[in-house]
Amino acid sequence: MIAREIKPGIVSMSTIDWDRKLFDQLVPLPEGTTYNSYLVKGSEKTALIDTTYPPFTAEYLEILKETGVSKVDYIVANHGEQDHSGSIPAVLKLFPEAKVVTNARCKGLIADALPVADDKFLEVKDGETLSLGDRSLQFFLTPWVHWPDTMVTYLAEDRVLFTCDFLGSHLACSELYAGDEARVEAAAKRYYAEIMMPFRSFIQKHLETLAPLKIDVIAPGHGPVYSRPEFILDLYRRWASDQPLKEVVIPYVSMYGNTLRMVDYMTDKLMDMGLFVTPFNMVGADTGKLANALVDASTVVFASPAVLAGPHPDIVSAAYLMNALRPKTRFVSVIGSYGWGGGIVSKKIIELLTGLKTQLQFLEPVLVKGLPGEEAFKALDSLAKDIYTANQAMDKTGVAE
Ligand code: FEO
Repeated sequence: MIAREIKPGIVSMSTIDWDRKLFDQLVPLPEGTTYNSYLVKGSEKTALIDTTYPPFTAEYLEILKETGVSKVDYIVANHGEQDHSGSIPAVLKLFPEAKVVTNARCKGLIADALPVADDKFLEVKDGETLSLGDRSLQFFLTPWVHWPDTMVTYLAEDRVLFTCDFLGSHLACSELYAGDEARVEAAAKRYYAEIMMPFRSFIQKHLETLAPLKIDVIAPGHGPVYSRPEFILDLYRRWASDQPLKEVVIPYVSMYGNTLRMVDYMTDKLMDMGLFVTPFNMVGADTGKLANALVDASTVVFASPAVLAGPHPDIVSAAYLMNALRPKTRFVSVIGSYGWGGGIVSKKIIELLTGLKTQLQFLEPVLVKGLPGEEAFKALDSLAKDIYTANQAMDKTGVAE
């Protein structure tokens, strides 16, 4: 763990969790993560912005003491999830006079999960300001990035925006700032895909709300700090937009190679047509990579054999994930080989995508019995042509004309 100054009187205290493999027992973390807390010293009051994940509390308190701070007046909680709020009780023990500053929703979540007494909270509303003397904190409620309680804190005098989960990345790295932008972009995109994508419409709205703020630095709760705010804001504007790219994702499973033949044929065909294609073998797959590919994809072709009167369970899982993540995808189809009773494969996949049915256009599936032959490849040619035509016809809002 390390404390580093962003500006005089503004200190980043970052817990680097190099070895964490999974978040919430769900989200793969191939590059670990960080939990960032910030200290803001005003001429009269001192505030902490968020804290850290409880397994690192002792280390965090040591670093906090090393900053030389003798008094904490406010602990701002931008979000109630415990990787940010979990050390609040320990900080309150050290600084019993401190108040936990947060919105009503977040207060409720913290009070439900942590031993923080009601009189320890100072509740703030959207747009409200809290003076630290020569510095002030302004709070903007940004619900659903990714919980209903989320907010961001703006330090106007220094043009720093503290965003907690919003705009963050799961990236354990030694740098304070996002210097290697290609690496940070990849981590931030994966983070967006796995955590933020279901809330695209909220993100669009929050980006508009925050647009008038003059921002020099974005200090998130995970990953490096952005000294070039437009870097991450532009990426979020693109990812959260309604405009998909001409990209095709093919999550597949093949038991005896027949479905794989169809996947290979379809991949080559679409590549010949100039489309960007990513086939994913879903057996033992990193679901984060699939989520990542779904961020901008216009088209998803599920490829599955029939197993026990339905798709392979790994394809069920891919369809379930897609439905939950709510990407901007417009076109879906199903291909695959079956031994007997294959029609149910397509029907069951479509049923799994009910949350997306108003935005999706289903293209004619290609399901064949056994080894794919001439007829099957003709049908795949026709599906590839439909995919190409649908992608060419997308207008600028991503809807096929
Ligand atoms: Fe980083 Fe939603 O917690």
